[in-house]
Amino acid sequence: MTPGIPGFAPSFPGVTLERLQSWLPTIITVVVAVCAVIVALAVVSRLLRRLAPRAHWYLFGFPLLRLRMGHSWRHLCLNAGLTGTDRPTTGQLGPLLVKGQPIMPVLPLLRRIRPRSFGATAVILLHPGQIPEPFVNAAEAMAHAWGVHAVRVDARLRGRVRLTILTADPLTSQPSEPTTKAAEPSEPPARQAAVTTYLPATTAPVVPAVAVPADLVAETGHREDGQQWVIDLVTFPHWLVTGATQSGKSTLINAAVAQWATRPVALVGIDCKGGMELAPHAPRLSALATDRAEAANILAALVTETQRRMRLCRQHGARNIWQLPPEVRPVPVIVIVDELAELYLVASRAEKDEALRATTHLLRLAQLGAALGIHVVVAGQRVGSDFGPGVTALRAQLAGRICLRVNDEETVKMTLGDLYPDAVEAAQQIDPAVKGIAVTTADDAGWIRARSVYLSPEQLAAVIAATAHLAPVLPDLTPPAA
Ligand SMILES: Nc1ncnc2c1ncn2[C@@H]1O[C@H](COP(=O)(O)OP(=O)(O)OP(=O)(O)O)[C@@H](O)[C@H]1O
Ligand SMILES: [Mg+2]
Repeated sequence: MTPGIPGFAPSFPGVTLERLQSWLPTIITVVVAVCAVIVALAVVSRLLRRLAPRAHWYLFGFPLLRLRMGHSWRHLCLNAGLTGTDRPTTGQLGPLLVKGQPIMPVLPLLRRIRPRSFGATAVILLHPGQIPEPFVNAAEAMAHAWGVHAVRVDARLRGRVRLTILTADPLTSQPSEPTTKAAEPSEPPARQAAVTTYLPATTAPVVPAVAVPADLVAETGHREDGQQWVIDLVTFPHWLVTGATQSGKSTLINAAVAQWATRPVALVGIDCKGGMELAPHAPRLSALATDRAEAANILAALVTETQRRMRLCRQHGARNIWQLPPEVRPVPVIVIVDELAELYLVASRAEKDEALRATTHLLRLAQLGAALGIHVVVAGQRVGSDFGPGVTALRAQLAGRICLRVNDEETVKMTLGDLYPDAVEAAQQIDPAVKGIAVTTADDAGWIRARSVYLSPEQLAAVIAATAHLAPVLPDLTPPAA
């Protein structure tokens, strides 16, 4: 037997110094080749990251994330309490019934990990007896374990939870500029007129006289998962928008109005801050209230209009205005209230009756309007119990919620807490330095972060000027003076 190199034997018997010397060139070549490949990959990765971030993500980022997810899944589940068990956790010990921790926990299955432009999506299959709540609570732990910006957990499916994995915050990195890209409505378009752009219409648009449901969908910006952010009055007929001063409420409303203005819908403004906020929209509005008394009158006229529409629907055996024949279908009305507090909060006894009248009519509109094509979008810097009991009743009708940066916890909880408790923390973490970021309801994702596009005053003025002639005249309401 050939003696081995001292120290190598007995692990590598037969490996002699001569043999090792004869392999040396091959070993060096292989090591150099491996190093060269690693360096080349690192250079390509760096270049791609700079020049083609999307290609970089699919070729390098996603495979690495997948490895990381697979590698950390067991530890993550054990540490974050996400495991199940297939054995009973109670047993009999002599005359005693004892309860214990399972020593062989079963991991939930992490499946369907798919790359997306914003990061990845995945599905976790729950074991019988598991509930989604610990997974919702572990979202932060997942983001840390996988080194990503955020993980959103959608717990609305039965027996599984869906993960949306975001590698970066697209809302702070993306410019908040209007785009020229045509925006597809989320539903199959009922008609091409509903497909619009963010950019102002410089010429008067040709709009069919009769509205269709797709006209109520306004594309207002980008969501953090890369999809368009829409305010969809078909899915959520009424909306509550809260945000501290300078957080982006008016910017968001401008983005939505710029879309609705080009369609056959009536816009009504209630701006009890003296009409300062909605003044730029005035030429396209069918009515504008600039104080509480005017607001009460306009809202009363709209309540009468709902009663007229009810009669019309009854006569035609329709359950909503969309079932009416096009020739009798009334125009949808979108009532925009900027600064809810101005309607609710009173300084003197004399104002009380007026406030009660205005807020009662607003509540009635929210209760009755959805099927009758009357929608409310209510914005305010804060919403609180000091507004009185009526505000909770109103909030219950406003299924669409948008919370921009706010200054107090109560407003966040009032806006999101009753529907999406896990969204409250996300809203509290909105960076004040980046304007226009919001946490919003989304029919397909529960809640999501989003950012509206910013239209300059000139761009908004151009849309309003080009569409002013489309403002429908509503019964008992006078359009604002030019
Ligand atoms: N989505 C956005 N993208 C870029 N900038 C934005 C965005 N939203 C708001 N801003 C910036 O913040 C400023 C204030 O926004 P905006 O007027 O919409 O706030 P607001 O919530 O209506 O404030 P207020 O309660 O005082 O009326 C805007 O003039 C704009 O410069
Ligand atoms: Mg404003």
